[in-house]
Amino acid sequence: MNDLIGFFDSGMGGISVLHAARRLMPEENYLFYGDNANTPYGPRPLEEIRALSAAGIDVLLRRGVKAVVIACNTATSAYAEIVRAEHPELPIIGMEPALKPAHFARHGGKVIVLATAATLRLQKFERLMDRYGDDAIPVVGEGLVELVEAGRAHTPEAGDRVRALLAPYADQQIDAVVLGCTHYPYLRAHIQAAFPQASLFDGRDGTVQRLKSQLEKYGLRTRGTCGTIEYQSSAGESAVQRMQRFMEWMDE
Ligand code: DGL
Repeated sequence: MNDLIGFFDSGMGGISVLHAARRLMPEENYLFYGDNANTPYGPRPLEEIRALSAAGIDVLLRRGVKAVVIACNTATSAYAEIVRAEHPELPIIGMEPALKPAHFARHGGKVIVLATAATLRLQKFERLMDRYGDDAIPVVGEGLVELVEAGRAHTPEAGDRVRALLAPYADQQIDAVVLGCTHYPYLRAHIQAAFPQASLFDGRDGTVQRLKSQLEKYGLRTRGTCGTIEYQSSAGESAVQRMQRFMEWMDE
């Protein structure tokens, strides 16, 4: 085992979570692996998402990381339980749409949960809906991951896509929107513009707080002062070159 914390996502979205981790624990050393060659995962069948997640997380495990963050709601829903059972020795932190805090933030209106088709279809979300889903409206963010991956999150085209997806709910009182996919924080401005009065929720801060407490529990916090970030991608060097920009977008 070495001192790296491994982050996995189907592509660039997980960098939004890495950004939150880096802000909370700048002294830690991070290895980010994006499966950009196979993104998006959301429209794929369960077995395919499992196989791709297994291969991606294996890249991190073979590097001997001390902890894994599945920085992807879709991969967490499909695969987290399996990989946790296979590696009980390792802290493995997953993600889920932040429906719980959004549910408690309502004041008479509804909560939109924007996520991938797979996240909304799988059993993990069903359980979340059973507990906090009265007045929740699940919406598949069709086409959004592709726009973010292409570096087009901040374009008018992305704004049009977000508006079109959310237009059917424009006449309802929407108190909160859950960004249930780690790619969506890059679309935050468009989503907020669609519902200016709504609070937006995503699972990034909760996830990295959990990472921190797990590292502390396992006695794995680093003693270094200034950590590093290494990026890797199944799509090769050109994708790696673009990753730093996704980190900077989170600063803006
Ligand atoms: N970023 C991922 C998530 O949080 C997956 C997006 C995808 O590949 O469809 O769900």
